Amino acid sequence: MSLSIASLSGWRVHSEPASELENEGMEKIELDELGLQSYTNMHVLFLGFLVILGFIQSQAAVVRYTFVVQETNYTRLCSSKNILTVNGQYPGPTISARRGDTVIVDVINQASQNITIHWHGVKLPRYPWSDGPEFITQCPIQPGSRFSQKIILSDEEGTLWWHAHSDWSRATVHGLLVVSPKIGTTFPFPKPHAEVPIILGDWWKNDIQTVMEDFLRLGGDPAVSDALTVNGQPGDLYNCSRPTTTKVKLDQGKTYMLRMVNAAMNNIMFVAIANHQLTVVGTDGAYTKPLKTNYVTISPGQTIDLLLEANQPRNRYYMAAKFYNSNPSSRFDNTTTTAIFEYNGGSYNSSSTLVLPPLPAFNDRNASANFTSSLRSLASSDHPIDVPLKITRKLLYTLSINTLPCGNNATCQGPRGNRFAASINNVTFDSPRTSILGAYYRGMNGVYGDDFPDNPPFVFNYTANGLNTSLQTPMNGTEVKILKYNDTVELVFQGTNVVSGIDHPMHLHGHSFYVVGSGFGNFDRQRDPLNYNLVDPPLQQTIAVPQNGWTAIRFRANNPGVWFMHCHFERHVSWGMEMVFIVRNGKTADTRILPPPPDMPKC
Ligand code: C2O
Ligand code: CU
Repeated sequence: MSLSIASLSGWRVHSEPASELENEGMEKIELDELGLQSYTNMHVLFLGFLVILGFIQSQAAVVRYTFVVQETNYTRLCSSKNILTVNGQYPGPTISARRGDTVIVDVINQASQNITIHWHGVKLPRYPWSDGPEFITQCPIQPGSRFSQKIILSDEEGTLWWHAHSDWSRATVHGLLVVSPKIGTTFPFPKPHAEVPIILGDWWKNDIQTVMEDFLRLGGDPAVSDALTVNGQPGDLYNCSRPTTTKVKLDQGKTYMLRMVNAAMNNIMFVAIANHQLTVVGTDGAYTKPLKTNYVTISPGQTIDLLLEANQPRNRYYMAAKFYNSNPSSRFDNTTTTAIFEYNGGSYNSSSTLVLPPLPAFNDRNASANFTSSLRSLASSDHPIDVPLKITRKLLYTLSINTLPCGNNATCQGPRGNRFAASINNVTFDSPRTSILGAYYRGMNGVYGDDFPDNPPFVFNYTANGLNTSLQTPMNGTEVKILKYNDTVELVFQGTNVVSGIDHPMHLHGHSFYVVGSGFGNFDRQRDPLNYNLVDPPLQQTIAVPQNGWTAIRFRANNPGVWFMHCHFERHVSWGMEMVFIVRNGKTADTRILPPPPDMPKC
């Protein structure tokens, strides 16, 4: 194994095929039941060999991992605390598989709080049972219990990730899920010398459960984080963090693939590497046309695959990342995290200060939107696209920040002493106390309603300044939108300036969608569709709807099940910016939900 990358706190960086990786707690099961008998002549043996070869090439593997959720002591910024981890690791272990494989993860909860785990970006065809969002597809895994989750990969290829999907636990319970090309196929670009995980996150000195509980009680913005992180490390610019700064070693002349995810809780990020251009080649587990850029905008939940050419003098260069925040009234952590990209064989003195790469201003919404709207699907013969052209369901969903009375005669930290809320089509989602999927599958009444509105309940100038405060109060509901199998959906997200406008990185479970258009201001049903990109729109699962703007997506509802859709800002999820699609079964046996596993957690 030719490692040219320094060890990234327990990471195994690889350029080999995933099946040759040794991974902690991982077993590969291939050809296990083949049971070949003895042969009488060489021809039969040779034919048998060809059959096995064909079998290896076409057969998807089953990969197994064990995830022990536990409390582990970690120190950052000279301050220690217990955090939730998987197998003691922060960030958590990387899952490696190939396109079309099935991964079985035995999740064992040895912590003292409930947990669920979600495989972000995996569609799980017909199998919502393993998807993970608490009270949407399952009851939480309680302390002392376990749940064996089956992650059925289909057409995803590239970088995805996994994270906790209950309370705010995903702050420390997350890791990469790398889907390599099938055996016998390759990347649609020259094979990189090595792959480098870049997991962007944030760190609170305080216990994250306490941060969440204070935030819910006080009704205002959450406490801002104390540091941003790259692969779990804040880096040079923070107290007590210099010696553990994430380092990546480069050989001059080689090309590296960065597998990047924004695992931060509440903010979009800008990222760049000094003196180096980056080339985007994929996002959200699908390839893109190569896009050369000096910086990247990445939403929480989004993944981006990038090529980095080590084509500069042998020296050390900073990668820097900071938050983008379009809303002047929301507090945020305006610090900068760094990692060091260091060329092998250079002569530099380690005390010299490095230059930071230029990054857009923290509130540069054009820089954010320009990057996001530059992505294009690869749309090649090996990686074709399939944009729905005939639409059977047209939906317009407004995304708003709202307010609700503080309650209990108390004063909250939100606007005018109220508490913050958030909504889609003016409905603040009320989470049930039992699984919607379970209720749907068993035909139980009383857990959810099916009245989620297709259009905003009232029409106003969504993005205007000084909107009437009477628009601020949302309705409460546990409403789902029911789709027929194979419905072709066009969904336009319309950001509003109710309370205050901000970007919303919207994420849909169970499906990828094509991002066919976006813009600032109000969506114009007559004019804007004329400019849709139906030729090579990017295929994504998370898309940042611009501040006081709109984004149009299209997808085919070909995955029967119960699928969560929500803003990937954790504070907006807590405020209720989420809803659920139920995709009905099709008419044939292979278009129905598969039966649940026997060990579904109980509430
Ligand atoms: Cu990345 Cu519903 O999640
Ligand atoms: Cu949001």
